[in-house]
Amino acid sequence: MAFDIEMIKKVYATFGERVDAARELVGRPLTLSEKILYAHLWDGKSNKAFTRGADYVDFAPDRVAMQDATAQMALLQFMQAGRPKVAVPSSVHCDHLITAKLGAEIDLPHAKTESAEVFDFLSSVSNKYGIGFWKPGAGIIHQVILENYAFPGGMMIGTDSHTVNAGGLGMLAIGVGGADACDVMAGLPWELKFPKLIGVKLTGKLNGWTSAKDVILKVAGILTVKGGTGAIVEYFGDGAINLSCTGKGTICNMGAEIGATTSTFGYDESMERYLRATDRADVADAANAVKEHLTGDAEVYAAPEKYFDQLIEINLDELEPYLNGPFTPDLATPISQMKDVAAANGWPTKVEWGLIGSCTNSSYEDLSRAASVAKQAIAKGLGKKAEFGINPGSEQVRYTAHRDGLLDTFTDLDATIFTNACGPCIGMWDRTGAEKAEKNTIVHSFNRNFAKRADGNPNTFAFVTSPEIVAALAIAGDLSFNPLTDTLTNDKGEQVKLDEPTGWELPEKGYAVEDAGYQAPAEDGSNVEVAVSPTSHRLQLLDPFAAWEGTDLKGLKLLIKAKGKCTTDHISMAGPWLKFRGHLDNISNNMLIGAVNYFNDNTDDIKNQLTGEYGPVPATQRAYKAEGIGSIVVGDENYGEGSSREHAAMEPRHLGVRAVLVKSFARIHETNLKKQGMLGLTFADKEDYNKIQEDDTIDIVGLTEFAPNKPLTLVLHHADGSTEQFDVNHSYNEQQIEWFKAGGALNIIRKEAAA
Ligand code: F3S
Repeated sequence: MAFDIEMIKKVYATFGERVDAARELVGRPLTLSEKILYAHLWDGKSNKAFTRGADYVDFAPDRVAMQDATAQMALLQFMQAGRPKVAVPSSVHCDHLITAKLGAEIDLPHAKTESAEVFDFLSSVSNKYGIGFWKPGAGIIHQVILENYAFPGGMMIGTDSHTVNAGGLGMLAIGVGGADACDVMAGLPWELKFPKLIGVKLTGKLNGWTSAKDVILKVAGILTVKGGTGAIVEYFGDGAINLSCTGKGTICNMGAEIGATTSTFGYDESMERYLRATDRADVADAANAVKEHLTGDAEVYAAPEKYFDQLIEINLDELEPYLNGPFTPDLATPISQMKDVAAANGWPTKVEWGLIGSCTNSSYEDLSRAASVAKQAIAKGLGKKAEFGINPGSEQVRYTAHRDGLLDTFTDLDATIFTNACGPCIGMWDRTGAEKAEKNTIVHSFNRNFAKRADGNPNTFAFVTSPEIVAALAIAGDLSFNPLTDTLTNDKGEQVKLDEPTGWELPEKGYAVEDAGYQAPAEDGSNVEVAVSPTSHRLQLLDPFAAWEGTDLKGLKLLIKAKGKCTTDHISMAGPWLKFRGHLDNISNNMLIGAVNYFNDNTDDIKNQLTGEYGPVPATQRAYKAEGIGSIVVGDENYGEGSSREHAAMEPRHLGVRAVLVKSFARIHETNLKKQGMLGLTFADKEDYNKIQEDDTIDIVGLTEFAPNKPLTLVLHHADGSTEQFDVNHSYNEQQIEWFKAGGALNIIRKEAAA
């Protein structure tokens, strides 16, 4: 079932000529990453070579992917665009809203009831607008994408940081916020700063207990959680060719943990094998026809130091298994040193849980290698000392693994088979006893291990490793156990050693599935009703924001002068609020509750200028809104850094804030504000931040001549009757000024769609 073969053929039809043009333009051989980037320029071609790490460039992604949590607001916004169908192939995957507790047979029906309204909404909106819908239980977004949609040389965006997983099939796949997804589905270009390039040359071959996971665990140790920021990591060399396709996916997946824009590998036979095994011979044939363009130029890989901004070399022959953690995925400890390092740091060594799954490591190969370890435990009379849980990556993987007896092997070892979903990886794990907050250790094959991530317990020490090492440590129940050298005592009191894991890159009898959990959209969705109950607490259809009234903004009240760091998490907190991410009014009750009030150093405690009383930020803003009074938020440096969450821009707009004035913006948040029709301004002189007083009433003057590069004027009316005024800058271009005037970018798109 190749979903996109016509689209893929279209991409390949111009790929070669675009790559050739780009090579001529930059005047040197090209990396794979550059080929894919230049082949996806929005305008088809460029007259200038882009500067890595500096130029902002418009791209035309081939596809959009969304998971159930982030899809809600992305699609509610898309509905505002007035288009009958999405402009590029898109899919929705229900994987984040399923709690792991007792096993798939009980947990999945429970989740379907608990989140029925969200699933019904996503199903109906997908059906209406031509979006592929993967039902709860169909699998984890990135595994399903790799199995069905990823293709060599493609470009995809997805509303999840681990979208990057599709680099395993030679794509550039990049995680974005819902606003970007909405734009691309609505037919607009997608902007990205042209990335820097990090090359990773792999030599040798994995052997014994070492797996693809250890490659990225080692890279994370070298680059740290920030080392890949703004860069694409491109893997190449003989060692890369020796890796399986799903193994490559594992490596690309955790590129998110080093902050990389994305990671990728050149097209090779492992990818061709995987495409054919997953019923996509037509995609493999199409890729083979252009394969010289689907990898970096030979000259680049012969002298990589000349072409990459940074180069790392890893010899797979010498690589050993790693355990990364606790509390951060870049604290890399080779398994041979874990005993000493754990003792030196006082990490609890009794392993309470071993968990296999997540988008990182839930392929057939992963399960088969871990099962080979589990099988030995039974045969050698070992049993297991820790609890053991498995989340297969997709229904196709689960069905095939069940057919081949892998799941029975796990259950023979008393493991729990959870739903094909994210589960514990995203904290959707109802772990018995976690509320006691006891110090304990778990090992898992996921990607993230920040405090509280899996079970909400800040004292859970979580270590990231490969599925086969998870299995070995669950059997041993001991973090300091090294299966390469150590023995375990079996039920007869004998010392036994675990043999090296074995597995299958691809199932010998092929993949199989009865019902993959896919719902194709209606051919003509015009009569499909989108299911949103007007009384829902979790979902709310959006109303278009009002257009600018055509005058200067006068009499705005200062809502809050935020002090210091104010990330999108301070502006729109996550945690329990995430359940309202499809309901703008309800989630707006978290607006700026994490921001520190400059005047009293408190959070969520600001002065209501109408009553003189102090109270929460959202309630104060609602009081202004009720009186028809606009307000202004003032912030410090790099305001809105962090995740690209669009709620951080939508909430102030919804509650009636008219402008956000800061010393400097994080670029994505600034763009998100502009898209929502909000005024995002910066102090021309940062010292003017000090002039803002708690009781100020503020005018923004010059809007009737709002133009690029032309400052506006801010007038402060202080409570003592004095006034001050100064210039404020903005970075709006002509088009963004139109967004402001129309009340938001979607209002313009809708008008254009109706015309
Ligand atoms: Fe899901 Fe965890 Fe991946 S939350 S998408 S399995 S990182």
